[in-house]
Amino acid sequence: MITASAAARALFLSRFGAAPSGVWLAPGRANLMGEHTDYNDGFVLPFALGQVTAVAAAPRLDGRLVLCSRQQPGLEVDAALDDLMPGAVTGWGAYPCGVAWALREAGHEVPGASIAIDSDVPAGAGLSSSAALECATALTLTSLAGLAVPRRELAVIARRAENEFVGVPSGIMDQSASLLCQARQALLLDCQSLETSQVPFDPGLAGARVMLIDTRATHKLTGGEYARRRAECEEAARLLGVASLRAVTDPAAVQRLADPVLRRRARHVVTDDARVLQVVALLRDGAGSGAAGAAGAAGAYREIGRLLTQAHESLRDGFEVSWPEADAAVAAALAAGAFGARMIGGGFGGSVLVLAGPDNGVRSAVSEEYARRGWTAPEFLDATACDGARRVA
Ligand code: GLA
Repeated sequence: MITASAAARALFLSRFGAAPSGVWLAPGRANLMGEHTDYNDGFVLPFALGQVTAVAAAPRLDGRLVLCSRQQPGLEVDAALDDLMPGAVTGWGAYPCGVAWALREAGHEVPGASIAIDSDVPAGAGLSSSAALECATALTLTSLAGLAVPRRELAVIARRAENEFVGVPSGIMDQSASLLCQARQALLLDCQSLETSQVPFDPGLAGARVMLIDTRATHKLTGGEYARRRAECEEAARLLGVASLRAVTDPAAVQRLADPVLRRRARHVVTDDARVLQVVALLRDGAGSGAAGAAGAAGAYREIGRLLTQAHESLRDGFEVSWPEADAAVAAALAAGAFGARMIGGGFGGSVLVLAGPDNGVRSAVSEEYARRGWTAPEFLDATACDGARRVA
């Protein structure tokens, strides 16, 4: 199978008639624990996928960005850097153009560029295909300019592109994961200080595996519902007298909220933050590296699975962002003997993460359940923790 970077390079050659100066790529992500915690200044624990967005590029002297993508045939984008401002570019080109705009806003003078893109991160599956595109572009443009911008700063810039240029009010998790993750590690990110640390995460060593299920559910309401959840969390923090829900560590404290909806939202955030730290402790105690011995590590993965399922229940009943196809996938996976499962990402569509033993019947159990309900067949992806964004040619 041709890789995304080879395909991006070939597209560049055929569209621009010369070899690119280089090829850069950035991965999609899955999140082990900590959902809707990033914009509450809390903790998240994502890892990078093997699926990537690749960018083949060369600088241009005319100050323009000329972009083509194998996923967007016939929808080429041509924009002058000096004309970039929020609203100036819509559609898929808003992501890469937004990154060029945000880099320049941050004082990084990047050149015009010819860019050809290919991606094998499934779009709309909640695996951060947009962050992969943003981060691959950010690395490309800064490399072409010869700028060594620290990755933590690049993540903030890519997020700004998404928030202000594309107009999606996301948190910092996806861009941080795409830029900062390392192979066989999950990334513990403190979204308040932006401090990170790598946590060993190699379930295969303990005979466990991570499977992602793209539930194929459309998520039309995501934008509005996501923004509403953010507003509810801010209101809960205000009523509790704290700057953000991160400051609340005792779940009992949310009982002070009179409004039952705000109470449910806040309880999810506070307990999910705690679950992130619990999973980190289990991984560091040996589950992640196999240091606890295979049997001990397998036990720890079962415990992590229990926390995953607990998190799903909290997202479903407390934060109310799950969707029927996710709930059915989680239930079928658990019935087939998975250690645990939960929806990942913003919700209302996208993927479910399953932690299971090696020979599991999860795939057939979930497929059969979807067929029984007359739903579009789900897609399955074996996930291992891979490296973050990098130059490949
Ligand atoms: C989306 C956003 C992230 C994060 C998750 C929920 O993926 O882009 O910033 O808020 O939802 O955890």
